[in-house]
Amino acid sequence: MSAVSIIDAIYRHFLKRYLFARDAERAHRMTLRMLAALPALQAPRDRPELGTKLWGIDFPNPIGLAAGMDKDAVAVHGWVTLGFGFAELGTITPRPQAGNEIPRLWRVPARRALINRLGFPSEGMEAVAPRIERIRKAGILIPLALNFGPNSDTPPEGIAADYTALMERLGPLADFIVINLSSPNTPGLRNWQSPRKMSELFAAIREHTGKLPHPPPVLVKISPDLERNELFRICETALALGVDGIVAGNTTVAREAVGVSSPHPGGLSGRPILIRAREVIRDIYTHTNGKIPIIGVGGIARAEDAWLHIRAGASLVELYTALVYEGPGLVIRMKSGLAGLLRRGGFRSISEAVGIDR
Ligand SMILES: Cc1cc2nc3c(=O)[nH]c(=O)nc-3n(C[C@H](O)[C@H](O)[C@H](O)COP(=O)(O)O)c2cc1C
Repeated sequence: MSAVSIIDAIYRHFLKRYLFARDAERAHRMTLRMLAALPALQAPRDRPELGTKLWGIDFPNPIGLAAGMDKDAVAVHGWVTLGFGFAELGTITPRPQAGNEIPRLWRVPARRALINRLGFPSEGMEAVAPRIERIRKAGILIPLALNFGPNSDTPPEGIAADYTALMERLGPLADFIVINLSSPNTPGLRNWQSPRKMSELFAAIREHTGKLPHPPPVLVKISPDLERNELFRICETALALGVDGIVAGNTTVAREAVGVSSPHPGGLSGRPILIRAREVIRDIYTHTNGKIPIIGVGGIARAEDAWLHIRAGASLVELYTALVYEGPGLVIRMKSGLAGLLRRGGFRSISEAVGIDR
C-alpha cells in the first residue's frame, strides 16, 4: 500500500467526518497544515503516455491543482505527493489582505459543491516569494503556476499596476502565470474581461515580461458566466494579443440554472458546474480553432470528467472542490483511469485527444 493510499483511507474513514463536522474554512486551514507537515514524498513516476508538453514545459501528467486551494504556497510538496502534474498557487495579491468577513466558505454536500466569497485573502507577494524561492532551490518536480489578482482596495486605475507589480516580483519564479480576471468576489474584476480593458492590461503586463530574461507564458482565467458573444470576443482578443492560454473557468454566480438552491452568496464550484465548464471549453476550442491552449477547470471529480474536458479542447485540467469530497487519493485514481481511457480509445498520448469532440 502506498503512502497516499494510506492517507486516503484515513481521510475517507475518519478524517473527512471530523473535518466536515467543522466550519469549512477551519477544516481547510487544518488540511493545509496537515499537508504542509507531510514529509516530501516523491510521487511514483507517471506513465509516459500521461505526460504532455506545452509552452516548452514538461508536465508529467495533465491534472493540476486549481487556484484557491493553496493561496500562499504553503503546502507545495503536498501537491507533489498527491500526484498532481502541476499546481496553480494563489490568487496572490501585491499587498497582504484579509479578504471578506467570515463566514465566507460553505459546503453543499448534497451536490458535492462549495460556495465561497473569500475575496482573495492573501499573505501578499512578499510573503509568498521566499517560499517559492525555497521550493525552487529544493528542486520541485512539477511545474508551478502563479495566479495573480489585485488588492480589493486598489482603485480601478491602479489595477494594471497591481498586476505588473506581481509580475515583476513573482514572474521570474513561475513556470507560467495566470491573470485572474474572473473571481466573482472582487467587485469590478470581471469587467477586465472586456476586450478594451484586457488589451490595456496585457500591454502593461507585456512591458514587464519583455524585460525578463525568460518571460513566463501568461494565461488569462475567465468566468463561466459570460454570454457566448462575450466569450467569443475574449477569444478574439486573446488571439490578437498573443495570450498564451485560457483557464476556463472560475466559479459561477449561477444557482438555479445549475440546479442549486442555496442562500449563500459567492462563487459556486464542484459537480454542478461540470457541464457548463465543458461547454465553455468546447466553445473556446472551436472558436479559436484550437490555437490557444486551454486549461479546463470545473466540476472534475473522476477520470471520465477530465477525459471529456480534454476531448472538448482542454490541453490540461485542474480541480479543487472534488478533493474535499473524494479525498487525497483522487488524483492517483484519476491518473490510472485516464491511462485506461487513453488505451481503450487507441490514443498514444493526451495531446492526441485534445479537442476531438469539438
Ligand atoms: C474555496 C475556493 C477558493 C477559490 N479561490 C480561487 C482563487 O483565489 N483564484 C482563482 O482563480 N480561483 C479560485 N477558485 C476557483 C477554482 O480555482 C476553480 O476555478 C473552481 O473552483 C472550479 O473548479 P472545481 O469545480 O474543481 O472546484 C476557488 C475555488 C474555491 C472552491
